[in-house]
Amino acid sequence: MDMASPSFFTNENFMPHGMCYLWQPNILWTSVISDVLTAFAYFSITAAVIIFVKKRHDLPYPWFFLLSGSVIFLACGISHLISAIVIWEPIYGISAVAKAITAITSVATGIVIWFILPFFLKLPSPSMLEKKNSAIQDSLNKLKLTQKSLVESKKMASLGGLVAGVAHEINTPIGIGITASTHLSDATTSINDKYTNAQMTNNNLKSYLAEVNEGTNLINSNLVRAAKLITSFKQVAVDQSSKDIRTYKIKEYTNEVLQSLKPKFKNTNISIKLNCDDNLTVTSEPGAFAQIITNLVINTLIHGFENIKTGNINIDITRKQDTVCFVYTDSGKGINIENKEKIFEPFFTTKRGKGGTGLGLNIVYNLVVESLKGSIKLNDDFAQGCQFIIEFPININH
Ligand SMILES: Nc1ncnc2c1ncn2[C@@H]1O[C@H](COP(=O)(O)OP(=O)(O)OP(=O)(O)O)[C@@H](O)[C@H]1O
Ligand SMILES: [Mg+2]
Repeated sequence: MDMASPSFFTNENFMPHGMCYLWQPNILWTSVISDVLTAFAYFSITAAVIIFVKKRHDLPYPWFFLLSGSVIFLACGISHLISAIVIWEPIYGISAVAKAITAITSVATGIVIWFILPFFLKLPSPSMLEKKNSAIQDSLNKLKLTQKSLVESKKMASLGGLVAGVAHEINTPIGIGITASTHLSDATTSINDKYTNAQMTNNNLKSYLAEVNEGTNLINSNLVRAAKLITSFKQVAVDQSSKDIRTYKIKEYTNEVLQSLKPKFKNTNISIKLNCDDNLTVTSEPGAFAQIITNLVINTLIHGFENIKTGNINIDITRKQDTVCFVYTDSGKGINIENKEKIFEPFFTTKRGKGGTGLGLNIVYNLVVESLKGSIKLNDDFAQGCQFIIEFPININH
């Protein structure tokens, strides 16, 4: 066919079937083999794209991938295959349709891609994600460290609270002692004056002796009380700052801890009842036990009895074979259903920004599980107030 003749643009004699390829078989075969290989490569790409889109559910614009990935490649592949077949079979009509489909999908993709390009440019690359990941990991590590030191300082703060409790409790007997001794000293000066001026009567001496008797008794009993408080607080304080395991009477010890919390109940009408066998003895970590009670009681005061002045706290301690069952109940506001699952999580608090850090019950949980080797749960069915059930071995060494 004469390509330069004007009849090229007319329908007469338009493209009779015949291939030239300069009559060189090597050109023909190179072209045919290349077309077939390209076709199969495109089919393989199509299959891969379809699998990719199907498996990656989070892929943005999946239709775009299907259009640009599978339809174009499928159309291109078919076009190439037909180009190879056309050399022997004159299926020009089919070839033209295949080419038209390839052209339409390619043009559509060519246009759409400019709209989608900004979105893909914004997508973080794997190396950017890796950098972000390691930054997040870093801050997570820092957060864990902060949490650890916060937990430690909160434990120490409860020790500080204990010291304040001790100071307050000892204040009363010492104050009484000072008043009594001042009074005795005044009475002694007065009787001494009377004696030196030879004005002392029998009655003066009698009443002075009675005052001395009463005063020394008062001083003595109050000093004994102060000494007792110091001994018991000393034990609780030492326990709280150490992790020692020892054998102790749980009722007596619980009372000592409650005693140290007494100042916090000032101006309230909240009664605490402790039910426990006097002789129940446990071998465990008393410091952890003291911190658990302290946190539970403080929570009751701050959350349970917020704006409530009257209520009860009941502590029941019983033995169940080799386990101590410690049930703490308060008659306060209770905990909302949606919060019940979260209360043991670190930093969960309903008093954020109002003094709550949300670490108290997390510390309690860890102390029960790690130090006492026990378990703690919030009684879900409890209607009024809240109830915690703690169980731990009576002897941690067994
Ligand atoms: N006895 C209770 N009555 C009602 N709600 C409670 C009681 N105990 C705990 N909660 C709820 O559980 C949440 C978590 O308690 P947690 O002791 O862990 O933190 P917090 O008391 O808010 O703060 P922190 O103890 O660190 O000062 C509290 O914010 C409160 O909403
Ligand atoms: Mg708390």
